[in-house]
This record gives sequence, C-alpha cells and structure tokens, in this order.
Amino acid sequence: MKSTLAGIHSIEDFDLKDKRVFLRLDLNVPIKNGKITDMTRIDAALPTIRYALEHGAKLVVASHLGRPESKEDRVKYSLEPVANKLQELLDADVILVDEPESEAPSALLRSLKKNQLILLENLRFNEDETENGDGLANAICAYTDIYINDAFGASHRAHASIVGVPAKVKQKGVGFLMKKEIEMLDKIMLAPEQPFVTILGGSKVSDKIGVIENLIDKVDTFLVGGAMAYTFLAAQGVAVGASRVEKDKVKYAGELLMRMKARDKKMFLPVDHRIVTKFDSAADLKSTSASEIPDGWLGVDIGPKTVETFRRELQRAKTVFWNGPMGVFETKDFADGTFAVAKALAELPHATTVVGGGDSAAAINASGYADRVTHISTGGGASLEYLQGDKLPGIEALRK
Ligand code: 3PG
Repeated sequence: MKSTLAGIHSIEDFDLKDKRVFLRLDLNVPIKNGKITDMTRIDAALPTIRYALEHGAKLVVASHLGRPESKEDRVKYSLEPVANKLQELLDADVILVDEPESEAPSALLRSLKKNQLILLENLRFNEDETENGDGLANAICAYTDIYINDAFGASHRAHASIVGVPAKVKQKGVGFLMKKEIEMLDKIMLAPEQPFVTILGGSKVSDKIGVIENLIDKVDTFLVGGAMAYTFLAAQGVAVGASRVEKDKVKYAGELLMRMKARDKKMFLPVDHRIVTKFDSAADLKSTSASEIPDGWLGVDIGPKTVETFRRELQRAKTVFWNGPMGVFETKDFADGTFAVAKALAELPHATTVVGGGDSAAAINASGYADRVTHISTGGGASLEYLQGDKLPGIEALRK
C-alpha cells in the first residue's frame, strides 16, 4: 500500500549548506515554575536540529507553546526555558528572537556563525499563527530557503507555520521525527502484522469513535479499560454503580459489541475493577470480584483479573496499539492497572508496540517502561486524527 510519505521530501534530500532553513518543531512542553517537567518532545527534536547544524544550515527553529490568550501570557508561555535547555543540550548558541515577524531574523541570519541557531519566540504570540494569517507567513518566507516540518504533534493544525509557510516555499519536507511518526503509524494502518491488538482507554467513548471505526476491520482484538469501559458495560446491562457513563453513547457501544461479534473479532471489557466511593480519595479503595460495581461506588482502575486477561491476549499479539490509560493513573493508588498494561507491553519483544501521544504517552513514561516499546507518539490529537484516517494539513502542505 502507498506510504503517506510518498511524494514528500525529507531533510536529507536537500543541500543545506549555507541555506536558511526554517524548522517547525513541536516544543510545546510542560513547564512548571520556569522548569521543563517532561523532556520527551525536546529530546525527539534533537536529531533533526543536529543534522541541520552539522550540514551547515543557517537554522531558524520555531514552535508554539501552550495557548496564550493575551499580552499578559507572554511571560508564562515564553520559550525562554526551552532556549536555555537547547543551548545546554546542543552545545550551541541559541539566540531567542522576540518578534518572528520583524527584520531581526533576516539581519541575524546574515552574520550567523557555525555554532549558532535562532529560536523564534512562541509563534502563537502573533494571532496570525492560529488564524493562518498571511502577515506572519510572508515574514517567515522572507528569511526561508528550505522549510522543514518536524512538528508532528502540531500537524493537525492548519496554522501559519504549519500550512501557510510551506504553501509559499518551493523546497520543503519532513524532518526525522515526522518521518518516524508517520512510518510507525502507517505500519499500523496499512499493513499491521496479525494478530493486531488495540488497547483503548481514557474517559470517553466519543473521543475514540473515529479510531475505532477506522481500525475495526484491521484489528483482531480490542481491550477496553478506563472510564470508557463503563459505557460498554452499561450497554451489556452490567451495573456500574456511580461510574461515569456516556449515556448518549450506550447505544453505539452496544452496536459495536455486536458488530465485533459478527466479524468474529474479540472485544474484552473489564471483568473486575478497583473502586472507591469518592473520586478524590483512596481511603476505601477495594477490588470487585466481578464486573458489577455496587451502588454508590465508582471505578477508578481495572482490577487484577482484568490485567491477567489483557496480559494473556497481549502475549499473542504481533502488533499492539495503545491509546488511553486504564484508570486514573495520575493518582498513585489508581495506577496499578495502567502500569501493569505498560509492563505487559514491555514484555513483548517480538511485537511492534506503538503508544499514542497525550495521556497514553504520559502514562507509559510514568510507568518506567517507556524505553521498552517500539514507538511513543509525540502527538496526542495529531496521532488520534491520523489513526482515524484524517489527512493532516501539515503533511498535505508538504506535497509538491
Ligand atoms: C499538543 O500538545 O498536542 C500539540 O502541541 C498541539 O497543541 P494544541 O492542541 O494547543 O494545538
């Protein structure tokens, strides 16, 4: 089947020497009190930055950070901590330019030295970025010879630096991270080795309908945990106590269970749960002995029998895709099920194991098994949109 990257250039196709290269990254990292608390996206961006520098590019790096709304947000959402971190990791001078739309980048590029690069301040400080306005795109084009998109996590956004700039630049392509993300997700979408098991979790069925519909013909088995499992259980008439159920999705869940059965495919739901009476307290945390949850109690994690069932199914898999935690893993006492699934994934040496971004990436990082899966996507929304079969604007903008 045709790869999504067919007809799209990669950074290696260009002679970068002395060229002004604009590199769009997703450096949207969590920052607390001026400190970066998760380095995943920065680490993932380094190979392309290093490659560009080593090949003599005059490099301008750009990203958004958060969703700034007013001028007051300029301090909170400044990329300054990222500039400092890049400087430390790259052993290069990182010059942070406040106004990407000004003459400053052009002027600096004329005298940029070998071990220097420019980082533009948060692109979303200019409203042209999210509105895909021409002002910002034209300003960037004025100092860009080659456009490289390595911002997979932002490629579902039709923003100026994602679609506006490449529409106006002839030489354009993907960086190494983008290439890897697409290749890994294509492997699942286009030619998954069977058996293919997809683990779905998180709070809502409605967030995952697109992915379920796109994968239903490809997967052999769905393993369902997290709060979305209660909607499926409710569809089977199982009592779920005070657990969160999406009432308007119960019918869909029931039909999906029947469609899976008709296709001779399996869908496993929790057979036991970890439950509490108050969502924010683990004081009365206990396991149920079966799939029913008593009145007044709510599920916060899958139980040990469910973990065993999921582990057994995973052991047969050749391809696994995981999206969404099995419980409220951010609370230590409710994290056992999610971490046990992460461990089960890590113990599959011969399977391709891909974890969707966002919450799932955070969960596998917190579990300590992140380095034992094949790929963790850096894109939350982007990987979901990709897997539900949508064309990402940032990828399409790179076609000739
Ligand atoms: C993300 O964190 O998913 C990306 O950086 C995109 O951010 P956004 O959802 O604010 O566009």
